Amino acid sequence: MGKRIVMGKDIEFSYGDNKVLDGVSFHIDEGEFVGIIGPNGSAKSTLLKLMLGLLKPDKGKMELFGERADSFSDFHKLGYISQEVRDFNPMFPATVEEIVGVNLAARKGLFKKRKLRDDARIKEVLRVVGMDGFGKSKIGNLSGGQKQRVFIARALANNPTALFMDEPLVGVDQESRDTFYKLMNILNREYGISLVMVSHDIEVLSEQVSRTIRLNDGRIHSGQDGG
Ligand SMILES: Nc1ncnc2c1ncn2[C@@H]1O[C@H](COP(=O)(O)OP(=O)(O)OP(=O)(O)O)[C@@H](O)[C@H]1O
Ligand SMILES: [Mg+2]
Repeated sequence: MGKRIVMGKDIEFSYGDNKVLDGVSFHIDEGEFVGIIGPNGSAKSTLLKLMLGLLKPDKGKMELFGERADSFSDFHKLGYISQEVRDFNPMFPATVEEIVGVNLAARKGLFKKRKLRDDARIKEVLRVVGMDGFGKSKIGNLSGGQKQRVFIARALANNPTALFMDEPLVGVDQESRDTFYKLMNILNREYGISLVMVSHDIEVLSEQVSRTIRLNDGRIHSGQDGG
């Protein structure tokens, strides 16, 4: 068994008076590909944010790599592709390589010049996601599926142990979905990156993942093993 990536115990969380999680316990281990499923408003995104320490549980304990999630600071170990990323302003004038390199730049101060090493890293992750040759393209000119792969490349640039994705396939056509799942399998099996993915695409997701966490009415209902 791999190391423990996330551990939640008796997690409760409310927005004001609205209790959206009412005692959930689970864990995710290194090497797993876990799907989080459940109807609209079942707190899938909220659970992901709690896992990443972006929200703090009202009760219970959330740990990332054995540390309290809300004080965890080893962020290069984590990639997060939020639900909001697909709303990325298409008029934003940045190029693909600028987008992919932005975290690398942030790590050493925004105003320092990008190093050659970073350029090589950007090339490499673009190759992994099948977007080599697109470095100079404007992000706004890419298709939904291509943009998605650029955001995955950005997450990969920091060499994460685990990748967390919130509904990465919304607005992405069937062919790009197939490409996406192929890429996820490579990341998971060849690169050993643990994957946690929220999706509505329950049928397909269940075939692809090693395990699902099913949320409903503030609780986790019996998960299933995938294929
Ligand atoms: N910032 C917020 N303030 C108040 N209520 C919120 C906030 N974010 C989410 N909620 C509420 O909490 C509940 C869970 O929301 P959440 O976004 O986690 O669900 P979800 O399962 O991700 O839904 P979807 O499938 O639509 O993405 C919903 O009832 C939602 O309205
Ligand atoms: Mg959501």
